[in-house]
Amino acid sequence: MLDGLRRLEYRGYDSAGVAVITADGLAVERKAGRLANLEAELVGQEGFVGTAGMGHTRWATHGAPVDRNSHPHRDVSGKVAVVHNGIIENFHALRVELEADGVEFSSDTDTETVAHLVAREYDGDLPETVRKVCRRLEGAFTLVVTHADEPDMIVAARRSSPLVVGIGDKEMFLASDVSAFIEHTRDAVELGQDQVVTIARSGYEVTDFYGEPAPTNHFQVNWDLSAAEKGGHDYFMLKEIEEQPEALANTLRGHFVDGRIVLDEQRMADQDLRDVDKVFVIACGTAYHSGLVAKYAIEHWTRLPVEVELASEFRYRDPVLDRDTLVVAISQSGETADTLEAVRHAREQKARVLAICNTNGAQIPRESDAVLYTHAGPEVGVAATKTFLAQIAANFLVGLALAQARGTKYSDEVAREFHELEQMPAAVSQVLQTVDSVRALGRQLADSKAVLFLGRHVGYPVALEGALKLKELAYMHAEGFAAGELKHGPIALIEQDLPVVVVMPSPKGRAVLHAKLLSNISEIQARGARTIVIAEEGDETVRPFADELIEVPQVPTLLQPLVSTVPLQVLAAEIARARGYDVDKPRNLAKSVTVE
Ligand code: F6R
Repeated sequence: MLDGLRRLEYRGYDSAGVAVITADGLAVERKAGRLANLEAELVGQEGFVGTAGMGHTRWATHGAPVDRNSHPHRDVSGKVAVVHNGIIENFHALRVELEADGVEFSSDTDTETVAHLVAREYDGDLPETVRKVCRRLEGAFTLVVTHADEPDMIVAARRSSPLVVGIGDKEMFLASDVSAFIEHTRDAVELGQDQVVTIARSGYEVTDFYGEPAPTNHFQVNWDLSAAEKGGHDYFMLKEIEEQPEALANTLRGHFVDGRIVLDEQRMADQDLRDVDKVFVIACGTAYHSGLVAKYAIEHWTRLPVEVELASEFRYRDPVLDRDTLVVAISQSGETADTLEAVRHAREQKARVLAICNTNGAQIPRESDAVLYTHAGPEVGVAATKTFLAQIAANFLVGLALAQARGTKYSDEVAREFHELEQMPAAVSQVLQTVDSVRALGRQLADSKAVLFLGRHVGYPVALEGALKLKELAYMHAEGFAAGELKHGPIALIEQDLPVVVVMPSPKGRAVLHAKLLSNISEIQARGARTIVIAEEGDETVRPFADELIEVPQVPTLLQPLVSTVPLQVLAAEIARARGYDVDKPRNLAKSVTVE
């Protein structure tokens, strides 16, 4: 169980706990902090002997990350244990109800209400009890429940949070994702929305929340344990940065067949794609930045208006949508609550949704009309790297699919664009071979107070992404700006020796923008900034403006983010390392944000 938790730790790491069903009842240990704290606590402890149990790593939502709020949670008798991922939105009302019944709570969590509800409703049939309890819960949850009176059974349920069952040889597993049990089996069953699975010696059984047998999706995991290990690097993130050429190649593979772009799943008619008259791109964080890049390509290729919006904002305003609106929802995990809610909001208004996702069968693709997977492989580092590049590639495929459907590009033009995309893994490999100087620069910048990032056109989302990486990894103040906006305010931030990273466009591809950016750099140089310039190889005009020059290969303008983001990822990782931070697990963050 601890091995499994280690692989899931990226999902949350502010406390951890285990419960084992033993001959004497439940043995439970919980500890605030990293999993290592729990492991240290368990050393030498006897009594954790059994063949069934549950474990949890937490990312705090309700209640501070302290021992007593760690999972598993128990009822008053100590016979029921529960672990939970998600948020139970009506927990407050349930808690008031339970307290009125005389139940004493020992934590501040929403999860503990489930343990008490199970104990109160239990009548000797744990699966039925769990179903009954689930029917009373609102929000998103994956729950795993045991009762000491039925020691050979574990019951789990899911609504809007992930849960997979691993089917081994005389052993069974339950986890939020397959990496937890891939070492033991690749044979897996993915649970659907509002389903309950009972695992017993006789096998497993899946029902809906009312006890009716429910259909499930049985699948074979097609990546192995080594893909989820660090492959000789100190951190997963560093390995994932190096995997970017492969992630790009895998994302493109198989999507250009007989001269046409094809998606992975299309549950809408071709005509619906042709009828699209407006595109919204919705996503969060890094995925949102990939969406900003998509806008330039989709508008250019299709002449459709494209709006890019943060999912959390889109959801709570009144976007104008109808059945001819295509909403492109981008999410690595496919389970980000903000994006999922935005998808539902769009579908309620009859818009078509196309998901771009890195996780097979996750909730967002399940609820969408079409799906394109980024085949970047598992991304364990909390900061997104290879999935960002893969998302950009997938966005371009969507743009080309739309151009093809609408006839705004001839098929030979689509083929040429696709062919250019196919050259990008090699270009990214070339960048990766030259990042040692970026590492050295990162070490020099480790004591900076702040770093600014500037870009124009597709360089602007790159600037935003560079700043986000630095904030989340190095806990350093960082801001990305559209370079043209500088003079409208941010230039006041420039002071002597402030590092400013500038993402240059190609002097050939975008001569006008290039010239404008050179002026922007001289403005900040005149005010004392230390300029770090990312520019195309052979761009000699930029040299006098760069205190530090980072060269990237020449590629078509729209594809530049694929090469210019890579040095920024390396820079942020190196600054974070030099400052002594855990690059894979930045503070306060979780890989999958399943709460709004
Ligand atoms: C930043 C990062 C986050 C995610 C965001 C969306 O490095 O990883 O900003 O991009 O939380 O997550 P997904 O793509 O899973 O929806």
